[in-house]
Amino acid sequence: MVEKIEHIGIAVESIDEMVPYYRDALGLEYGGEEVVEEQKVRVAFFGIGESSIELLEATSEDSSIAKFLAKRGPGIHHIAVRVDDIERALTQHEENGAQLIDKTPRIGAHNMRIAFVHPRSTGGVLVELCQSPG
Ligand code: CO
Repeated sequence: MVEKIEHIGIAVESIDEMVPYYRDALGLEYGGEEVVEEQKVRVAFFGIGESSIELLEATSEDSSIAKFLAKRGPGIHHIAVRVDDIERALTQHEENGAQLIDKTPRIGAHNMRIAFVHPRSTGGVLVELCQSPG
């Protein structure tokens, strides 16, 4: 079952430069930062209703975020959908012919179990399925 939009991931050149907009101008609650080593990304969280906005900054030149920025510039990188059973969601994708980037879940920010769906199957947007660890 799909529960909600968990977060929208936005690729930025510099989190530090963008915090003032999201926190001060837009007025969102700043929820801290985390480095996800495996994905070579630094993430800043901002609560917005039941969802959040996550700013993504590359921590290395071979990060997928660095490649995204080089190719397309800053902007929406992915939309994350929270599911209650990620294995079931992945099976449902395969049964319906959707192309998965991750056939098995990995661990993302906040220890969420995550898996990405290829934009080719979603209308051009990278979709992240995620399940809360608890
Ligand atoms: Co995400």
